[in-house]
Amino acid sequence: MSTTLTGRNLIAGRWQPANGAHFESHSPARENEILGVFPSSGAEEARQAVIAARAAFPAWRRASRIHRAELFDNLAQIVKREADNLAQLMARECGKVVSECRAEVIEGLHMIQYVFGTGRMPIGEVVASEIAEKDAFMRRKPWGVVAVITPWNFPFAVPLWMLGPSLLEGNTVVFKPSEDTPAIGQRLTELFEEAGFPAGTINLVHGEAQAGEALVRDADVNVVLFTGSYEVGHRIQQLSAEHYDRIVACEMGSKSAVIVCADARLDLAVNCALISGFKTSGQRCVSAGRILVAESIFDKFADKLVTAAKRLRVGNPLDAGNFTGPVIHRGAVEKIERYNALARQEGATVLLDGGRMTGGEHAAGCYLSPFVYRLEHRPGVRVLREEVFGPHLALVPFRTNEDAVRIYNDTPYGLSMAVVTEDYRTMRLFRDECEYGMGYVNLPCIGAEVHLPFGGVKKSGNGHPSAAGLIETVTHKTAWTVNHGTEVKMAQGLTTNIEGGPA
Ligand code: UN1
Repeated sequence: MSTTLTGRNLIAGRWQPANGAHFESHSPARENEILGVFPSSGAEEARQAVIAARAAFPAWRRASRIHRAELFDNLAQIVKREADNLAQLMARECGKVVSECRAEVIEGLHMIQYVFGTGRMPIGEVVASEIAEKDAFMRRKPWGVVAVITPWNFPFAVPLWMLGPSLLEGNTVVFKPSEDTPAIGQRLTELFEEAGFPAGTINLVHGEAQAGEALVRDADVNVVLFTGSYEVGHRIQQLSAEHYDRIVACEMGSKSAVIVCADARLDLAVNCALISGFKTSGQRCVSAGRILVAESIFDKFADKLVTAAKRLRVGNPLDAGNFTGPVIHRGAVEKIERYNALARQEGATVLLDGGRMTGGEHAAGCYLSPFVYRLEHRPGVRVLREEVFGPHLALVPFRTNEDAVRIYNDTPYGLSMAVVTEDYRTMRLFRDECEYGMGYVNLPCIGAEVHLPFGGVKKSGNGHPSAAGLIETVTHKTAWTVNHGTEVKMAQGLTTNIEGGPA
């Protein structure tokens, strides 16, 4: 990229001049390439953004819901126009292959279309009353100010999963994109502005941990939506416990798995495993870190998988012919390498020795090739329980389907699970006995669509902070009861006599 972007915060409709501390966004494919310089915001900027969001809230929630929805229709047209540019910028900034980035832009677009579509859908329910003259309703109301704190690996779609329903329902937002993908976060905010969202309804605060922490500490933030690591999500939950009316929804980490049963179609299973394990270099929150394989077909499956994994093209993210690009930064390379070494220490039989790719086009970036190993399940093995977030895949043999359920559940996480089988009873066993938020049959464990709920259980999080399920989090239900009679009649047979004595 030839020009370096100037990052700015957007507060109350004004792009703030960048002065003071700043940080840089680098391309993981070419570490020397600086995409932009962004303000390293702290408590002061976070406070100003929350004040702006609070000030914009009353007018925004009073606006017609359909008017709000129509702004999302504007946004949809703009995103269609910008799709290729957005995909290019994303590929440069986060290192995902451009075809995958385009798919992510489309996923974001789908969320915008979904939000626009729900604009004319019911916002509550009409319910019965014990009293004939009473009408009773459930009506949803927005909470107020929502802080949206998002990860680098889906820097366009995941923010839209959160921003979309939050804004449609009448909340105002402060958006803090990942410090690894501030450029795409800023571009998305500019598109909201171009679509006509009024000043203060969407505010942008760039920064690292201190910016996020300041937002979470701000008592005037009603809802925090977060996708990212368990460590950060847990900190958000702890800080939020200080605030009596704080709603928090976190999606944090996983140790997702594909379960390949003895009757699986082998080619389909290999395809599911490769996509789940190595798409996005294994850096989706739903990426599979484990493939559980029936012992009876283990060798055949492992041979095919390793042969195919060797052929995966890892390279320049701007080349759509590559299967995957680099990992996000040097720190990620080192962390993944530590886990590769740990797998060996914990008894892995290495089937494909991944590692740094340093020659030719790989020299300038953070490239790693796939690491695949066989490891028997034992309780307490760290590489079978902890999230690696990279191209690091354990193949774990199992004897019976019941064993596979136990092995699958033996991790603190519970996000995504796929089972490959031709048998409907087997499928049902895994559906009912495994702990997950997203379950798939004869598919990879990645690739969710926006109109489905998205989120996990256990250490993977709470509250489904994304996509269609989010309406539950960004609104609260109110009971609204109207008496059409000319006298008071109470439910539960309660007397209305106010003068004492028998009713
Ligand atoms: C994530 O990795 O944080 O289900 C989100 C999928 C994508 C979203 C992943 N639709 O793979």
